[in-house]
Amino acid sequence: MSGEMLLLKSARDIEMMRRAGKITAAARALAGEMVKPGVSTRAIDRAVREYIISEGARPSFLNYNGYPASVCISINEQVIHGIPGHRTIQEGDIVSVDVGAFITDDFKEYHGDCAATFFAGECSQEVKDLVSVTRQSFFEGIKFAKAGNRVPDISGAIQKYCESRGYSVVREFVGHGIGYRMHEPPEIPNYVTGLPGRGIRLVPGMTLAVEPMVNMGGAEIRVLHDGWTVETADRKPSAHYENTILITDGEPEILTPADGDRSYGA
Ligand code: MF3
Ligand code: CO
Repeated sequence: MSGEMLLLKSARDIEMMRRAGKITAAARALAGEMVKPGVSTRAIDRAVREYIISEGARPSFLNYNGYPASVCISINEQVIHGIPGHRTIQEGDIVSVDVGAFITDDFKEYHGDCAATFFAGECSQEVKDLVSVTRQSFFEGIKFAKAGNRVPDISGAIQKYCESRGYSVVREFVGHGIGYRMHEPPEIPNYVTGLPGRGIRLVPGMTLAVEPMVNMGGAEIRVLHDGWTVETADRKPSAHYENTILITDGEPEILTPADGDRSYGA
């Protein structure tokens, strides 16, 4: 990805991304409301797709590299990219919902992307803690999402927060730039590899999807035979939290804001 242009958004682009982000966040909230024992993942997918279209937007995920649905629903040991289907949510499940939507203007697309993990009925304290650390790690990361800092400052803060609490962060999948497309450069890993002081510098007008994927056990994952579903190798639970953000001259702006959803573990 390093050869690709880093795209800075104009004031007009940002206004479009706020609109896309609002729809995407509302779709996540709608999915979260539906996470209850007895509900099929297919029903959530249908409701999310219909909602996005009713708002004049389109689902970013549908047909993306052949992905067959509008939302990813990943349950318990599933990390990301679970495909909605006949499966019914059970009491005690933790359910990660990831959704993307875009609006168009003058043939340009403006994408939002966000995720959260929701509780189905009563869940164990163990998974509640995992979900709340995962969500908080996003906010720890974006404390560093300021002009002049570098991408690995965000990554390192997320990794440190999660690992110091005994969890692991997934390596094979990362956050990303977003805007005219769902995936733009740069990559936003949830771990640090490079030397301190290196890495892409953050500039006002960058729009990024920051998305920690956090495992209760080891970091290792595998992809199921459906070619999509990612689960933990040790089959211990995993949680996900994601927002699309804008780098500004001051604090980052969350373009997919949630208001008090049930993923907060409160
Ligand atoms: N939010 C995910 C991402 O950032 C989902 C894309 S998966 C697909 O990569 F379903 F769209 F393929
Ligand atoms: Co994403």
